[in-house]
Amino acid sequence: MDLKQHIAIVDGWPKPGITFKDITPLMNDGEAYRYATDKIVEYAKKQNVDIIVGPEARGFIIGCPVSYALGVGFAPVRKEGKLPRETIKVEYGLEYGKDVLTIHKDAIKPGQRVLITDDLLATGGTIEATIKLVEQLGGVVAGIAFLVELTYLEGRSKLDGYDVLTLMEF
Ligand code: PRP
Repeated sequence: MDLKQHIAIVDGWPKPGITFKDITPLMNDGEAYRYATDKIVEYAKKQNVDIIVGPEARGFIIGCPVSYALGVGFAPVRKEGKLPRETIKVEYGLEYGKDVLTIHKDAIKPGQRVLITDDLLATGGTIEATIKLVEQLGGVVAGIAFLVELTYLEGRSKLDGYDVLTLMEF
């Protein structure tokens, strides 16, 4: 299946100069969404994962169906102030300024093999912060799966030494 035909390219959004890759047409199409999910499920089985971790909000869209298919748990990574119990946090750089990602302290048990999922790898800042959270809790990053990689932003350079799957490259 040609998944790329289900990605909408939106020029000048959210601001001039940016060409946004919109994954919602892929999600809207049941066959395409299932196909993409199945590819990541296959990968997760190969990497022998115990739990899935995804950053809000689109990391949930990719990770939760994989979690359901495998019968393993899902741990959400959220922006600061969204998780109600004890968390750990990591600051990460944005194009302008900083943001903070958090995870519940008891979300991952030491030694668990973790698959990190997100819709898109751009600069890699979000995933780098997510990796730090997982590793601070003693999790082992067994793999990282994205629908889309924007190769020209070179986010992969932040993921040296990790096993990465991307289903589409732009
Ligand atoms: C987008 C996207 C990735 C991240 C990629 O999320 O879903 O998580 O940016 O960019 P990076 O590789 O440069 O870090 P966003 O922060 O827009 O949050 P959202 O999914 O809640 O819209």
